[in-house]
Amino acid sequence: MEFKETMRQRRAVNFFDTTKDVTDAQLKEIIETAALAPSSSNLQPWKVIVLRDMDKKETLKKVAMNQPKITEAPVVLIVLGDREGWKKGNADFEKGFVNSVKAGHMKQEQYDQFVNSTNSLYGISSERQLAFACKNAGFFAMSLMLAAKDAGLDSHPMDGFDIDGVRKAFNISDQYWIPLLMAIGHFDKSKTLLPPKWRKNYDEIVVNF
Ligand SMILES: Cc1cc2nc3c(=O)[nH]c(=O)nc-3n(C[C@H](O)[C@H](O)[C@H](O)COP(=O)(O)O)c2cc1C
Repeated sequence: MEFKETMRQRRAVNFFDTTKDVTDAQLKEIIETAALAPSSSNLQPWKVIVLRDMDKKETLKKVAMNQPKITEAPVVLIVLGDREGWKKGNADFEKGFVNSVKAGHMKQEQYDQFVNSTNSLYGISSERQLAFACKNAGFFAMSLMLAAKDAGLDSHPMDGFDIDGVRKAFNISDQYWIPLLMAIGHFDKSKTLLPPKWRKNYDEIVVNF
């Protein structure tokens, strides 16, 4: 699909067709396409928990304002941002460095420099760590929605949930922030989607201080 058309056609779809599934191959394709999203120092501090099982979706729904799309969509993702993904010893951080050396983007002797550089950016406050997790997982999440649309599927992002409730129900440690939940499936064509929502224009977006 042409890029602008993908952008236009992506909508937060409230109604999912409960008779249509998303295959494992489709989900893998969407997740790996979304992983092409950029990230700070290519650290890719995102993870997802995939929910397909109805009991698990029911559990999630209870801590997510009873939003019906959670049980109607065949797949719901709990998107996670790793607050420690910049830190020496973090598995993804270490793997990222090894892969960067393998790919010729960094040299082995730059390890300490890499550790110090990310530490100086994100090690200084919990606010920076939260921002690191959220901004990167946010780019990934946006890419998931566009990848889903491009694959002929629909999605719905949600931040209407009780974060502590989701943590507890799915055993998610404080290391991860949960920027959003995302339903993925097929729009129920028997329902009517609201017309496209308004958007700010150029003049409303550009500012000077
Ligand atoms: C981070 C985020 C969280 C959202 N949370 C919810 C939610 O919990 N429930 C809901 O019905 N819609 C939610 N939305 C959907 C927005 O209301 C929707 O994207 C917006 O109105 C624009 O509509 P469109 O996506 O169809 O263009 C969320 C969207 C984003 C990006």
